Amino acid sequence: MAGIAQWWRDAAIYQVYLRSFADGDGDGIGDLRGVRDRLDYLADLGIDAIWLTPWYPSPMADAGYDIADYRDIDPVFGSLADADALIAEAHQRGIRIIIDVVPNHCSDQHPWFQAALAAAPRSPERSRFWFRPGRGPGGDLPPNNWVSHFGGPAWTRVTEPDGRPGQWYLHLFAPQQPDFNWDNTEVREELLSVLRFWLDRGVDGVRIDSAAILVKDPFLADVEQELPPQNVHAPAQQTPDTQPLHPYIDRDGIHEIYREWRRIADSYPGGRALIGEIWLPEPRRFALYLRPNEMHSAFNFEFLRCAWDAVALRRTIDDTLAAHAPVGAPASWVLSNHDVTRHVTRYGRADTTFDFAERHHGDPLDLELGTRRARAAALLTLALPGSVYVYQGEELGLWEVEDLPDAVRQDPMFHRTRGADPGRDGCRVPLPWSGTSAPFGFSPAGAAAQPWLPQPATWSDCTVEAQSEDPTSMLELYRAALRLRRDQPALRSEREPLRWIAAEPGVLAFRRGDEFACVINLSDAPVELPEHDSVLLSSDPLQGDLLAPDAAVWLRLRGR
Ligand code: NOJ
Repeated sequence: MAGIAQWWRDAAIYQVYLRSFADGDGDGIGDLRGVRDRLDYLADLGIDAIWLTPWYPSPMADAGYDIADYRDIDPVFGSLADADALIAEAHQRGIRIIIDVVPNHCSDQHPWFQAALAAAPRSPERSRFWFRPGRGPGGDLPPNNWVSHFGGPAWTRVTEPDGRPGQWYLHLFAPQQPDFNWDNTEVREELLSVLRFWLDRGVDGVRIDSAAILVKDPFLADVEQELPPQNVHAPAQQTPDTQPLHPYIDRDGIHEIYREWRRIADSYPGGRALIGEIWLPEPRRFALYLRPNEMHSAFNFEFLRCAWDAVALRRTIDDTLAAHAPVGAPASWVLSNHDVTRHVTRYGRADTTFDFAERHHGDPLDLELGTRRARAAALLTLALPGSVYVYQGEELGLWEVEDLPDAVRQDPMFHRTRGADPGRDGCRVPLPWSGTSAPFGFSPAGAAAQPWLPQPATWSDCTVEAQSEDPTSMLELYRAALRLRRDQPALRSEREPLRWIAAEPGVLAFRRGDEFACVINLSDAPVELPEHDSVLLSSDPLQGDLLAPDAAVWLRLRGR
């Protein structure tokens, strides 16, 4: 790694959920033109990199996570020329570009899967995927009892070219997302070539989707106990020690793959990042993916899932740092993304944790409280050592839109569970930029189409326009915090680890270096601030030297 710019170690990375960021051509769907037009907004926000969700040609059965062509751009988002222009224009502003790569599965419209359907059982075409005969009389039952993350069985039966019911294929997500067989050499080579294709075009990193589940148990054995669908993805209730071996993971095989990816990424100049999406609640297993010759970084979902509670947060932060230290990888901190309930909403409920299996949709909600906590959480997150993600709209204080009519919901999670799971549409509603009524500047004036999901009328108060220059707004808090984070050497330096400061119960307080401290009050009474020189930033107005409940502050300490 000597000589490679390891920019990802402390970067502030902004997640652009492409369909919902900004619509440049008026079709109601966000696109690359829209992102290019808003690069100045992102530069001004003070982020270092953008992670873009999949932009490839796709039938959109899972909002683009079903890829039909890994080397092109879906026309709804633009063209390869737009992608090249976006990369260049972002670089001109000092912003790096991370793209999503989806190696676990493709679209059922991908030419390889179409060829597999047309070919015979046990053919080379089928061996790129997991085709198996069914069980039971006539092979009418799926080959094993695995369930899809989106509900229902993880297998779908095909009709053979001669018209008879035939083999089944594996899909850990929707049936339109067949899983690749990573034991197949062609699959490995193809995805390596895809990686090179985009690194050659100048992207600065890839976010590896579903990174821990690529390699399967070759025996495809039944899991002992059928887990409810979302528990497979995020087995929340189990503690690290009682957690059974994840049924879909072959640990050794998978690490070999990432060692190969790492060799390629590190062979490019300028520092190209491999960032894994890994939902593993066991810190030690998680850290295996971050050994010095594997991924550079991975999303820390334990922090996102954690309750708004001082003891739980401190334990999660300590566990995270302790897991990363031995492998020399930077920690990462995430509060929200396009798969989970927005944290303003989570923090406004009695149960502030996140769990796919239990979304608390419809439970009593105090948005004002959630917003206050989200402001404090922003200061906590942006002061922790490592990299940090900002999910588009969190800087505007957006909440989960939970009252979307069923008819507009698009997420397969909602449809495959027949509405038992509300799905993820509520965190994907198009951003409000300006004006007082929908589409709030999301689409250009006079656009023919409405935004692909309806925006709440009350978002008129949340637009970028409405919040800009209002010192009390969420947007200005993020702008100020990101700017300070950039300018405070202690916050960017790994030589300044987190050191806890003794504090009252319910209060988290820590230093970075000798001159910076962050204090978060998660108790229900105001607390006194430690001795300090000045207040750099606070999430709530201070009452003298008192920090209100659910507020946070950044302090300059007296240097030693
Ligand atoms: C994780 C992605 O974040 C999610 O949106 C997607 O549905 C699944 N992987 C399947 O690709």
